[in-house]
Amino acid sequence: MIYKVAVVGAGSISKAHMNGYNLNKDRIQVVGVVDPYKIAQDEFKEEYSVKNSYSSIDDLFKDCIPDIVSICTWHSLHHVQTIDIAKRGVKAIICEKPMAIGSGAAQEMLDACKKNDVELIISHQRRFTPGWEKAKEIVDSELIGKIQFVELKALEGLLNWATHNIDGSRYIIGDPETKWVLGAVERTTNKYERNTIIEDACMGLFEYTNGIQTFVQSDLNQYDYTSKWKTNHPIVIRGEKGVLDITEYEIKMLGDGKGWKTIPADIPKEEIDPIGGETNGKLVKELIELLDGKISNHRCSGDNAKKTLDIMMSIYQSARTNERVNFPVTEKEYPLELMANEEKFNLKVKEKYDIRGFLDRSNVDEDDYLKLKKQGIPHHLLMQKVKRK
Ligand SMILES: NC(=O)c1ccc[n+]([C@@H]2O[C@H](COP(=O)([O-])OP(=O)(O)OC[C@H]3O[C@@H](n4cnc5c(N)ncnc54)[C@H](O)[C@@H]3O)[C@@H](O)[C@H]2O)c1
Repeated sequence: MIYKVAVVGAGSISKAHMNGYNLNKDRIQVVGVVDPYKIAQDEFKEEYSVKNSYSSIDDLFKDCIPDIVSICTWHSLHHVQTIDIAKRGVKAIICEKPMAIGSGAAQEMLDACKKNDVELIISHQRRFTPGWEKAKEIVDSELIGKIQFVELKALEGLLNWATHNIDGSRYIIGDPETKWVLGAVERTTNKYERNTIIEDACMGLFEYTNGIQTFVQSDLNQYDYTSKWKTNHPIVIRGEKGVLDITEYEIKMLGDGKGWKTIPADIPKEEIDPIGGETNGKLVKELIELLDGKISNHRCSGDNAKKTLDIMMSIYQSARTNERVNFPVTEKEYPLELMANEEKFNLKVKEKYDIRGFLDRSNVDEDDYLKLKKQGIPHHLLMQKVKRK
């Protein structure tokens, strides 16, 4: 069977989804794209030879009912669009991270998909990177003994980057259940990311029911993630008999008394893009196996992603209440926004700014956009240079 796919949101990350679908061409046919901006529709159709484009989800479904829909819009739309699309007869949704802004919204997504018999997959595609898969293999083989502690670092907002390595470290150590979370948050500037209120910096300590603790810090350490073979989502795992320093590409292991040893991951090509290409391809392949009934669980299931989201929400909620958050979580809303509304932050910079605001297409001068595109300027740089109306 060929599964028909539609993509909602024709921006940066939609390209990674398309790379993933194109790696499964024997089972996938992309039938359409939805974006309110004609310039984004045209660009997508030209790049991927997709025939149909639509300005809204309603228009798409008037024309056809795809089997799989990719939701590649900004965070705040994930909740409403997932619930809307789940009711329209699709078999699966691949929604971008972060799953939702608030544990209640994430639960509603799970409920809507369950009710309508839709598989919900969240794009934590780094679970398929060769380095993280190899690290799981090492942990499963008990080479470093019983796992005791995990350390994570992230940048550019907890919800934006840390969602990947909180989720990835959970994958590597076997997706344990969370027991409690204690968090601290700094917000002295009026910072947003893709129109979602975020913190300047934060950290959290959490414990799973199996006793393993994890410490995550976000925007507190400006590590170099730009050069080849460096990671932008570092994970360090300490076991009884050794330590793993994990990137998406390779692992360094300490444990046999001979210093750090590099363990290469099984990378099929010389170079791999951990966001696009192979990882999205493997995520789609696993979804096809799930839809075909060959497996019963997808490693990027919505259920799993909600557990990661609950940890992040609880870091904020703990800072809000000055106590540990015991699981299961009870706060449904977005605690950081609640704190802002409760005037808990002492802002030194009051003017709102958005670290990904440049991606907003709403006021772009389209002639200038096309001119810069012809010059071959990459999308993020182009969006920072383009004239605004
Ligand atoms: N998994 C990853 O590694 C990864 C990497 C980057 C971004 N992301 C996530 O992907 C999401 C999108 O980020 P991006 O960088 O691609 O943003 P983007 O701004 O480049 O793309 C978003 C697109 O959505 C379109 N859009 C806006 N409103 C819409 C609507 N109502 N219906 C349909 N389309 C609409 C916009 O016009 C734009 O083309 C974010 O949530 C982000 O966190 C994930």
